[in-house]
Amino acid sequence: MSKTIFTPVRGMKDLYGIDFNKYKYIIDTAIKIANKYGYSTIETPIVENTEVFQRSIGDDTDVVSKEMYTFKDKGDESITLRPEGTAGVMRAIVSNNMVVSNNLPLKLMYYGPMFRYDRPQKGRYRQFHQLGFESIGAKSPYTDAINIALANEILTSVGIFDCQVYINSLGDLSSRENYLKAIVKYFSIYEDKLSEDSKIRLKKNPLRILDSKDQNDKEICLMAPKISDYLNKNDIKYFECVCETLEKCGIKYVIDNLLVRGLDYYSHTIFELKISNGQYKDAIGGGGRYDGLLKLLGGPDVSGIGFAIGMERLMMLLDENKFQQQEYIVSVIPVSDKEIDNAFELYKTILSNNIRAEFVHIGNNLSKKVEIASKLNSTILLIIGEEEVKNNTITITYMNKSEEARRNKTIDRNNIVGFLKYN
Ligand code: HAM
Repeated sequence: MSKTIFTPVRGMKDLYGIDFNKYKYIIDTAIKIANKYGYSTIETPIVENTEVFQRSIGDDTDVVSKEMYTFKDKGDESITLRPEGTAGVMRAIVSNNMVVSNNLPLKLMYYGPMFRYDRPQKGRYRQFHQLGFESIGAKSPYTDAINIALANEILTSVGIFDCQVYINSLGDLSSRENYLKAIVKYFSIYEDKLSEDSKIRLKKNPLRILDSKDQNDKEICLMAPKISDYLNKNDIKYFECVCETLEKCGIKYVIDNLLVRGLDYYSHTIFELKISNGQYKDAIGGGGRYDGLLKLLGGPDVSGIGFAIGMERLMMLLDENKFQQQEYIVSVIPVSDKEIDNAFELYKTILSNNIRAEFVHIGNNLSKKVEIASKLNSTILLIIGEEEVKNNTITITYMNKSEEARRNKTIDRNNIVGFLKYN
């Protein structure tokens, strides 16, 4: 189809109908769970100064080097549509001085659109939505396990039970420095065979080779040294405790020594959640610990951990049938214009009782109006004609043909709300 002004920007789509119902259901469920775990909600701007992302996510990551929507505003400032939520939330914590001596841990959740100039495909968009959680100032393996449990609980609460947790540890800075030396040595042997991007990564940020999307790079990575062999004693103890706590929570996990995640701010525990039934192969959510990030952005030196769930990927897994509109729709129909005001009063009464209703008053005759109501998927028609006005009654017609016996019933108008709610 040729492009017109009505073609949405590539990789972006409108959110409406069943998908919107799914979106709202996930967010409503997540907010209830988040409250239980002590999170409050934050909304940061969709654009930030470009440096916020460069500094936190890292210049050599694919996200920053290839995927950001960065442009100059009219004041010649470089601004960027947020590619993820963590950096902006950290910036907001610093800007608003949210960390004071006795308010830790500080737990914030957020949801909303993110933007990455990625190659669109199933479950991968240029505008997508994340539901994210950040917890600041609680450095403990228990906190790490609780974060993973929280991510898992959100998925199970919306009905996704085939979730598999993949977990790894990047250790602290000293562990990573030793590991970096080892992988530089290893990848240098294969330098000629690496993709052009990974040749650059080898010089600038070798860890990023491990999350290269190039098939050849991926094969070379399979035999690369594993971070687990370079963790120091404390890191090993910490990671073991995370795993044990997950077991105590009854969460099944797989240790994936090749998992590094695509963002530079991580240290220690990192994790991803995937679906094990083969419905979709990429991660539904992911996160990890980012202890130096707040300090890097000019804030206090407090630890942090969090994760984000990709809303489109999660919505894709939910059953369409459960997200249809309310099961019955009431249409109020005046037989002629003479009854229009009387019927309108009835329509308002029904709405004020939180019952979904339509006011079908356009159409030359009753059968035309019934046809319109049918197109609106109405299940119950409330018909007001001359007789009904005179007797203060309503004629009820069920559109559902299988309920033949219940068609055309007349009831006292005073009883209509109870009738609709409890019948
Ligand atoms: P991320 O792994 O880059 O982590 O993204 C989290 C989730 O967002 C992914 O697992 C995926 O479901 C979804 N996602 C990412 N890119 C796309 C895309 N192009 N289209 C559709 N969905 C996508 C982060 O963003 C970190 N900020 C998570 C975090 C929070 N770490 C600590 N705190």
